Amino acid sequence: MGREDSAPSSLRSSRPTTSPGTGMATTTLAVDPAAIAKCFPDRRPPPAVITIFGAGGDLTKRLVVPALYHLVRGGMLPDSFALIGIDHNEKTTQEWCQSLTEMMQGFARADGLEGGAIDEQAWSWLTRRMHFMQGDFTQADTYRRLEKLLSEQFARQGGTANALFYLAVADRFFGPIIEQLGRAGLMRQSENAWRRVIVEKPFGHDFASAAALNAQILKVLTEDQIYRIDHFLGKETVQNILVLRFANGIFEPLWNRDHVDYVQITAAETVGVERRGRFYETTGALRDMVPNHLFQLLAMIAMEPPISFDADAVRAKKTELFRAVHPISPDNAVRGQYGAGELLGKKVGDYRHEPNVAPNSGTETYVALKLGIDNWRWAGVPFYLRTGKRLSARTTEIAVHFRQAPYALFRDTPVDRLPANILMLRIQPDEGLSLSFSAKRPGADIAIAGVEMDFAYRDYFAPLASVGYETLIYDCLIGDATLFQRADTVEAAWSAVQGLLDAWARVPADDFPNYAAGSAGPAAADRLLARDGHAWLPIRAEHRHPGHNT
Ligand code: BG6
Repeated sequence: MGREDSAPSSLRSSRPTTSPGTGMATTTLAVDPAAIAKCFPDRRPPPAVITIFGAGGDLTKRLVVPALYHLVRGGMLPDSFALIGIDHNEKTTQEWCQSLTEMMQGFARADGLEGGAIDEQAWSWLTRRMHFMQGDFTQADTYRRLEKLLSEQFARQGGTANALFYLAVADRFFGPIIEQLGRAGLMRQSENAWRRVIVEKPFGHDFASAAALNAQILKVLTEDQIYRIDHFLGKETVQNILVLRFANGIFEPLWNRDHVDYVQITAAETVGVERRGRFYETTGALRDMVPNHLFQLLAMIAMEPPISFDADAVRAKKTELFRAVHPISPDNAVRGQYGAGELLGKKVGDYRHEPNVAPNSGTETYVALKLGIDNWRWAGVPFYLRTGKRLSARTTEIAVHFRQAPYALFRDTPVDRLPANILMLRIQPDEGLSLSFSAKRPGADIAIAGVEMDFAYRDYFAPLASVGYETLIYDCLIGDATLFQRADTVEAAWSAVQGLLDAWARVPADDFPNYAAGSAGPAAADRLLARDGHAWLPIRAEHRHPGHNT
């Protein structure tokens, strides 16, 4: 444990800029969390010790530790802080720190955000507080040793004993670790000692296993001690959906079946299954992406307004929405698996030749769904969802298609079709939002052109160094569970897709592979929308301004 010095920080100044396209001067705040933390010192979490189970794993290296580093840089961690890493491999604290240092240096060189180097002051602030402990997650002795190590840290933290246990481990360990923590008395709370657990994805494999896991861990913990992660909720652009809807007066009145024709939600990836073949073979695109990530996007777009941003108010509305999703019949679903193809100028192989994938695998790497929502707001409005690996571009976006204007006024003009109004929320990587609408093309005739208003985050806000886990870890440290999944929400989401999981398990797909790597997915997904007279928007990584419609 190192010196209890303050987290380093820097203050960037506000700078006036010109708003794109309008020439209007706006003030852009270079949002620096350090500055915010200084202005609002009570926003720092209380003293705490984080223990990561799975300290040597990929998640710890790629996301949890970089997120903690960013929180240190932002002055968002308490001065009294310690990080304990537990893993089954024997190593010293020094070796653990050394391997993380090399990895962080690699990241810094690769992403350039840090000018090619890590901030030594911030990094050493963190490494001085790091401790490694070898341990088998299933053995009681590990937890006895952990308790001793935690007590030593708490002794330095001035009478508090707050502990967060981060389960960055394979899902089969979630239940056993929580039971052991309970048996060792490590989850017992008191006035100056909160005890919380972050549980990673996947939370269950289907409805029954998710419900069983909830039952198992709720024997040891109360619901408010459990923080079930869905990392999509860590994305700024996902959180912004609620701000867009509820902090603006103009959208919500249109946000219903009277004005919205249909909604498309796309999460397209260019990556294949990488080194995760073993996991993916028993998971597939439906389980991997739909009841979790895509449903979180669906909830943000379609839930009723909560009465406050209080965690339970928000999560109750999400659960209600998931319960209103129609059972999905196989007629309203399409599955696909990628074959060989060309992607971003390179030849790539088929799914069945990925490492640890069966040569005759029936696992889907693509899914498209048509969902109906049974409530007053959305009855009759189709929500089309699609996600897949090895598609032509990486993009996550939500397109809200509004109903056409009545055509009558333009009947005797050369206008043959009115372009639709689409509000496009670009979640990643080209973060922003655009609204397309019709304008009169200059000239003697009434001719109409589709034009667009666009907002790009980068034009207004300085980029924040982030891996997407910063807010989630910070929120857990301050006890705000709004961005985490509640037991009933997780179960309601699984329940909505359970019928389809069962139907697909009964009848294996007979046309795999049915889309080429680098394409937009299987042809059947186009037919799913064509049936309703609709079509998917093209999958594009970069938003392209339509420019002047000449
Ligand atoms: C994970 C899935 O939960 O989310 C992966 O297991 C997927 O298969 C990933 O690639 C997508 O997340 P992101 O943030 O890269 O869009």
